[in-house]
Amino acid sequence: METILAVQDIKKSYGAEDVLAGISFTVHAGEMLSIVGHSGVGKTTLLSIIGLLQSPTAGQITLQGSSAGSLDSTKRAVLRSQYIGFVFQRARLVGSLTALENVLLPTWLFGEKKEVKTKAEDLLCQLGLKERLHYSPAQLSLGQMRRVALARALLLNPSLILADEPTNDLDSTTSEVVFNELQQAKERGAAVILVTHEKEYAARADRMFRLANGLLHEESVLS
Ligand SMILES: Nc1ncnc2c1ncn2[C@@H]1O[C@H](COP(=O)(O)OP(=O)(O)OP(=O)(O)O)[C@@H](O)[C@H]1O
Ligand SMILES: [Mg+2]
Repeated sequence: METILAVQDIKKSYGAEDVLAGISFTVHAGEMLSIVGHSGVGKTTLLSIIGLLQSPTAGQITLQGSSAGSLDSTKRAVLRSQYIGFVFQRARLVGSLTALENVLLPTWLFGEKKEVKTKAEDLLCQLGLKERLHYSPAQLSLGQMRRVALARALLLNPSLILADEPTNDLDSTTSEVVFNELQQAKERGAAVILVTHEKEYAARADRMFRLANGLLHEESVLS
């Protein structure tokens, strides 16, 4: 299977605080990897480094064969928009746009196409937001905003999906809908990294890791 992402000996310190102490792993196309760990242990930090939103203190990120460290910020932004779908822990939606417009936002750069708009609408409908396409974020619940953010991350079929606690604060039915979308993206060949506090979802990934003391430890998904 094609390697989508290779993470090599990533370290990250904030001042004197060492958050990541040497993280290495690879993810392949069609694979879902989950990361669990206590609050504050560095899960979001790790995802933001993988998502090329901040630089590590040391180590290498290779995305689809391109080494991110050697690129300038513009090339990193291009790599990110081509290959990565990010579902942020705090759904970052633009308040002045509707749900549908928020999903379509990343495509405006390339000129909006009708088929992309139809796909955005379909995704929002699948996520249970058929009646809310033209609502603004202020008119949506937190769980609804999270689903809009998920639709935005999935819209352009990214080869790498980074989902930071996407089922947090959702009821079990909606959590299942969200997890199923990630599962389907994986089945279409995306590599998915799921950060979650919910062990039952973490254990449904192909591989599960625990982040503790700055290091990743693989755990069995068969318990
Ligand atoms: N920009 C920053 N400057 C300084 N310290 C930071 C910064 N971002 C994160 N940290 C620190 O790094 C540590 C890890 O934060 P991070 O958000 O990665 O944790 P997390 O595992 O995602 O936690 P949670 O489960 O609560 O989301 C925390 O102690 C946090 O205070
Ligand atoms: Mg976090």
